[in-house]
Amino acid sequence: MEYSLQADHLTKRYNGQSPAVNDITLRVRPSEFLTLLGPSGGGKTTTLRLLAGFERPTSGRIQISNRIVADDSRFTPPEKRKVGMVFQDYALFPHVDVAGNIAFGLRGARTDNERRVKQLLALVGLTPFASRMPHELSGGQQQRVALARALAPEPDILLLDEPFSNLDTGLRAQVRSDVRNILLKTETTAIFVTHDQQEALSLSDEIAVIFEGRLVQVATPHAIYNRPANVQVARFIGEANFLPAEAHGMTASSRLGEVKLFHPKSGQVQLMIRPEALAVGFDDRGTPAVVRWREFYGHYQRLGLALADGTELVVHTGVDRYFQRGNEVRVTLALPALAYDPASDDTLS
Ligand SMILES: Nc1ncnc2c1ncn2[C@@H]1O[C@H](COP(=O)(O)OP(=O)(O)OP(=O)(O)O)[C@@H](O)[C@H]1O
Ligand SMILES: [Mg+2]
Repeated sequence: MEYSLQADHLTKRYNGQSPAVNDITLRVRPSEFLTLLGPSGGGKTTTLRLLAGFERPTSGRIQISNRIVADDSRFTPPEKRKVGMVFQDYALFPHVDVAGNIAFGLRGARTDNERRVKQLLALVGLTPFASRMPHELSGGQQQRVALARALAPEPDILLLDEPFSNLDTGLRAQVRSDVRNILLKTETTAIFVTHDQQEALSLSDEIAVIFEGRLVQVATPHAIYNRPANVQVARFIGEANFLPAEAHGMTASSRLGEVKLFHPKSGQVQLMIRPEALAVGFDDRGTPAVVRWREFYGHYQRLGLALADGTELVVHTGVDRYFQRGNEVRVTLALPALAYDPASDDTLS
């Protein structure tokens, strides 16, 4: 298998500190969109900076396409790595117009460069803006110039560090899908950093979850959401209910009665139950509960339920029935639950 990028046992330790990046191994396939997701200070930016060549790894190896660009004895500087970078603050040159910004990294003959800039202006939908200055553009337009500039020299891999976080919510969704469509069209291999889990789940082919410098799980958005490697990942990505239970093989006894498990397990466990895995209704099947609060979102409702013993559960349900505060309902588990050992750092086997 040929990869666009391979990082092996990548570690970066700044002076005297615990490692900012700790033994990270990653593989990125051609045209893949990989997201590094994790809490603030976890080492995401440091990982990108190592891949781009702005930092030297303390140990480990980086290979881009077929070339080793960093290991114990070799170090290729950023400008020779064929890596494009898009930053949170766009980092456009303020005194150069849009076309000049896009042409910045081009090394070819003048007419070739002009043709390339035209292509990129069309690609990012900014042809009429070629001679505007950066301060005459909206945030979303500036971000598209930054993207065009990074793509202009045809990098083997594009690195994007929180590229949407300076945009307000409405624009953000628009720029996000624009950028995704441009990367799909150009079949660009990209590594994208965010601490926004919705952004990661919706955009990525694969997500690499990083906590405290360590890679905790790499998987598709679907697998990360439905089979989080541990309780920490389950809590970080999406909403989760946790219930203590006593497991015996493929079932467990819990406050929701006897429930099915996804994996065989025995003894004390905590069940992880996504809000949409719970079914709520007014018939007499299931565990009695009271609706404590309701949020209506048009295409679904989010309910806070309390069981008789005070246990609280969050449920996402459809809008075919309208629930109200104080409703007496019944709740059942519609899907098998994931069971983790009670210690919160348990890893799913
Ligand atoms: N140049 C530096 N010198 C010393 N320590 C640094 C340096 N850059 C980052 N660090 C430390 O390394 C750790 C990881 O930082 P990094 O910027 O990679 O996190 P991040 O995941 O990108 O966080 P955020 O989501 O807030 O951007 C942090 O503890 C940070 O303080
Ligand atoms: Mg960062």
